[in-house]
Amino acid sequence: MSTPEIQSVTSSALSSTLLDRHPRRLIITGGAGFIGSNFVHYWGQHYPGDRVIVLDALTYAGNRANLAGLEGHANLRFVQGDICDRALIDTLLAEEAIDTIVHFAAESHVDRSILGPGAFVQTNVVGTFTLLEAFRQHWQAQGKPEQYRFHHVSTDEVYGSLNPDDPGFSEITPYAPNSPYSASKAGSDHLVRAYHHTYGMPTLMTNCSNNYGPYHFPEKLIPLMCINILLGKPLPVYGDGQNIRDWLYVEDHCSAIDTVIHRSQPGETYNVGGNNEVKNLDLVQMLCTLVDELAPDLPVRPSSNLITFVKDRPGHDRRYAIDATKIKTELGWTPSVTVEEGLRRTVQWYLNHPDWWQPLLSEEYQAYYRKVYA
Ligand code: NAD
Ligand code: DAU
Repeated sequence: MSTPEIQSVTSSALSSTLLDRHPRRLIITGGAGFIGSNFVHYWGQHYPGDRVIVLDALTYAGNRANLAGLEGHANLRFVQGDICDRALIDTLLAEEAIDTIVHFAAESHVDRSILGPGAFVQTNVVGTFTLLEAFRQHWQAQGKPEQYRFHHVSTDEVYGSLNPDDPGFSEITPYAPNSPYSASKAGSDHLVRAYHHTYGMPTLMTNCSNNYGPYHFPEKLIPLMCINILLGKPLPVYGDGQNIRDWLYVEDHCSAIDTVIHRSQPGETYNVGGNNEVKNLDLVQMLCTLVDELAPDLPVRPSSNLITFVKDRPGHDRRYAIDATKIKTELGWTPSVTVEEGLRRTVQWYLNHPDWWQPLLSEEYQAYYRKVYA
């Protein structure tokens, strides 16, 4: 499994622990989504001997094209299915002798959670519970093997919103989720924590900041702005554009999860950030400047003329920032990609892949777009 477009990130902290590593047998839920598919590419590059089962329901956000180049590989199996389907999960755990679940599958978009929260509770809470319960019984039936892991991928949004001078979120920041999305992720985090505390199940959890990079569905800020610039459409900035996010290049996120799976003690939680706090308006300006440089023949120049302020997101969190001291000091992980470099790579990827994003601008997408930006 390999893709030439995704650079490899090798954490020096990992090298010593991997020398005597045994192959793993993983279910990667949500592996056809944005981060999940980047993780499947990453894992295939770093651990080609591992068995990988991608379990994905292929909602609007799931896309088999994200796994192009990998399907057909003997160690990869794609299963279209729902994480709420207990019988399916039991079957996969047993027949594939799974020892590791890396759980990305979720409803992930805040604006969609405001329009329709039900699916978020179902997938993010009930789905995570279903996986936990199935994995617990599988792990217990196998005699609680030491190497088993359930890695839950979560978000910094569970901590709520920061004021300008507040320190970043750490692992002991109290939970204060503000949107139906973040509340559902918080619910799933609590279940994961409880399964370790109550049953001793070997869970791991990472809460990370905003990811960006290849295969990012164009409802999220960065891909939406890239594509709208290329199409000469308005660039809708919510509110005053002064909200702050901490941007993490997706491959750095993958290397952080890798580090946690291989080096952390079971039961631990780590916050993962990119050390790249940027105001939304500044980020959109950076994207405009990059596209103007990399695609100089577009009809609207400068692209920043397309910036349009639109009504704010209800309950819009003002600032997110991560204090990633714990993962740095305990496991030796730090992000390697600056926002300038990551945005350049990302813009270039969208320029090179209209064949990937054009089919996503479907009628369903246009209907969604009209609702959010009405
Ligand atoms: P995404 O929306 O791009 O992908 C989600 C994937 O899950 C899709 O492939 C979808 O088909 C699948 N899925 C949805 N419901 C399912 C179900 N019931 N059963 C099986 N599959 C289902 O999401 P993403 O941005 O890649 O996020 C992945 C994970 O990372 C999520 O858990 C999210 O909360 C978390 N996260 C994301 C970010 C970010 O910036 N994108 C940051 C922090 C944490
Ligand atoms: O912080 C981690 C979270 O980051 C993840 O848990 C979520 O799954 C992921 O979607 C992301 O949530 P955000 O709401 O921060 O991401 P989004 O790309 O939707 O928005 C980023 C910022 O940009 C936010 O302040 C809202 C703003 N925005 C977004 C869109 C889509 C705009 O101004 N205009 C837009 O059109």
